[in-house]
Amino acid sequence: MNAKSNQSAPGIRPSINGMEPYQPGKFIEDVQNELGLSEIIKIASNENPYGPYPESLREMKRELVKLNLYPDSNFKELRRTLGHIHGISPDCICVSHGAEGMLQTLGKCFIEEGDEVIIPAATYTLYKEISKVMGAKIIDAPMTRERVDISTIEERVGPKTKLIWIANPNNPTGTIVDKKALDRLLDRLPDRTWMVLDEAYAEFTDSALLPECVSLIRDGHHVISVRTFSKAYGLAGARLGYAMAGKEIVTVINTVSEPFNANRVAIAGALAAINDDADTYKKTVSRIKHHRTFTEKRLRRMGLRVIPSHANFLMFETPFPAQRVFDGLLKMGVLVRPCNAWGYDHMIRVTIGTSAQMDTFIEALSMVLHSSESDPIRC
Ligand SMILES: Cc1ncc(COP(=O)(O)O)c(C=O)c1O
Repeated sequence: MNAKSNQSAPGIRPSINGMEPYQPGKFIEDVQNELGLSEIIKIASNENPYGPYPESLREMKRELVKLNLYPDSNFKELRRTLGHIHGISPDCICVSHGAEGMLQTLGKCFIEEGDEVIIPAATYTLYKEISKVMGAKIIDAPMTRERVDISTIEERVGPKTKLIWIANPNNPTGTIVDKKALDRLLDRLPDRTWMVLDEAYAEFTDSALLPECVSLIRDGHHVISVRTFSKAYGLAGARLGYAMAGKEIVTVINTVSEPFNANRVAIAGALAAINDDADTYKKTVSRIKHHRTFTEKRLRRMGLRVIPSHANFLMFETPFPAQRVFDGLLKMGVLVRPCNAWGYDHMIRVTIGTSAQMDTFIEALSMVLHSSESDPIRC
């Protein structure tokens, strides 16, 4: 499944050649078996350590007996509920299998062979792969001190630009874009250019710092906001995402998406999480933010550079190659994400877990760093 697909078979579309399959975080049971460890702390895939929430779980269990029936293909109740939360018409909302499903559909809706897409140099890797499959030319926008820089994106917008992919907060850096600069860029976009604003981690950010997507959509700006239940709502395994956009774009997305592109169990879980688990949701998000601040302080106290984060993870720099620190932590049963694939050879991304998980992580990290310091082949 993770083999490279760049060895083409006859008949495969040329744009598939050279694609890199998405590299998900390691599966916990595989790591346990490989290393013979009885317990692993997985803080590598930005999952929510507290979900699913109690009422959400109860409703998902109740829904199981209805799995012989298709879900409501219009997702009316979910769209109405989401419309209410965001203050937007349900006609401006469409649903998908995770945010990933929506990102794939957006690629299909917009990108034609030869179009250009602009992607920040260090961001969610799927944007590049989706764009390549559709035959787009990828234009990299360099980062500025680990941040997505709207001005470098703007410099790259040209007559062939079809999509601009922005994760806000960004994965893996956890940073957000300058709201005013983003508004200005949207004002200046050419007629055929659209911005996908992937807000998978928005719930962990102070909302005043985020672009006001609903107003932007209402004013006819070319922006599509993508959201997920995988992170703050703790439903990554249920695979449910959605987008907010102008009505005409939502109609196009629904036409291109597969029918029934979200399942009954996920919908039941999401509705209950919103309607009946509101307190748990609030407590969970504030707990994660609290542990984020605390973990950041502890990392800084260890003398490490930490990138201030607005998401449920932190990226920090180590004096040693990230892969080496990753291997050391893994041997101690702590699974994090080295950031080499994004070009950050000395950076690690760690998901904010429970208080106990973060204690174990900090302890393991300081042991790995100390043993690396006394290692004669430092690099
Ligand atoms: C920026 C970003 N967008 C989308 C996703 C995928 O979300 P989902 O689980 O809803 O497919 C992730 C997952 O880590 C992500 O980091």
